Amino acid sequence: MMNKAEIEKFLEKINLRVDKTLNNWLPPKNTEPGILHNAMRYSVFGDGKRIRPGLIYSVGSAFNIPYEKLDSVAAAIELIHVYSLIHDDLPAMDNDDLRRGKPTCHKAFGEANAILAGDALQALAFNKLCASAEAKKNGGLCTQWVKMLGDAAGSQGMAGGQVLDLAAVGKNISKNDVEKIHRLKTGSLIHAGIMMATLLDDANLSRKENDEISQFALDIGLAFQIKDDILDVEGSSADLGKLKGSDAARGHPTYVTVFGIEVAKDILEKLLEKALQHIDFLEESGEQLRNLSKYIVRRAY
Ligand code: IPE
Ligand code: IPE
Ligand code: MG
Ligand code: MG
Ligand code: MG
Repeated sequence: MMNKAEIEKFLEKINLRVDKTLNNWLPPKNTEPGILHNAMRYSVFGDGKRIRPGLIYSVGSAFNIPYEKLDSVAAAIELIHVYSLIHDDLPAMDNDDLRRGKPTCHKAFGEANAILAGDALQALAFNKLCASAEAKKNGGLCTQWVKMLGDAAGSQGMAGGQVLDLAAVGKNISKNDVEKIHRLKTGSLIHAGIMMATLLDDANLSRKENDEISQFALDIGLAFQIKDDILDVEGSSADLGKLKGSDAARGHPTYVTVFGIEVAKDILEKLLEKALQHIDFLEESGEQLRNLSKYIVRRAY
């Protein structure tokens, strides 16, 4: 069983791998329009945990998919994630000044450039995903990838969840509502990354295996955001690289405000258990995925 140091070493390796792809994909620094390309690079590179790519490559390990075939999915998901963070931090949304240990994109480059950097990262994700060797070889796969990513990022996925999340500020919302918001704003993209990986021929999943991995992805996606809510209360700003207490400062309903911190932690542990049960069938090949799942729920930042 891998310990925390081993998972962190694995994530470091993943970080280098995904950074290499992203560095190739992103327009070089200072190329016209310099401020836009620099803002994109500023937000993409740095202290991100790269947990979404980590999950994608761990699915690769579980199903014997060569890592090279997963590079474009991992980088595309990370780009959409970074775009969502840039917009999430804007004054019109969460109005945060610190992200990944440095000033947020709009603080460093101005609001208009931050909005446009997010837009451009999203466009780049789809562009490069389609230009990847795997997508070029298999047009059907490309279509499925684009659809999955589009659904997950759009009005019935991340963007829709963000709208519901913002509409809930200052209100008392129900348990069902907070679960729905979390599944949409954060869970959908995590789910999409995992399912996009399983579409590669090497995975060759049965219907039953597909259902199980999909259930796992839904559970771990929700768990990720519950942990984020808990860390906003219990984490340290220095470790998180973002200002703790930001949810409470805005009156943002979270799992902690709706359920109380102890119940939220209990729900989180039960969700992890449930997620892990869904990947029992992977037996030994699922070890890395299991360990990363535990790390997501027990991480300190
Ligand atoms: C933060 O995501 C935003 C959420 C969806 C909870 P991460 O905690 O993965 O942020 P980075 O990528 O490591 O900065
Ligand atoms: C972010 O949720 C969800 C997305 C970016 C889609 P949060 O607003 O809780 O994320 P942090 O805490 O700012 O990273
Ligand atoms: Mg937010
Ligand atoms: Mg936020
Ligand atoms: Mg948060």
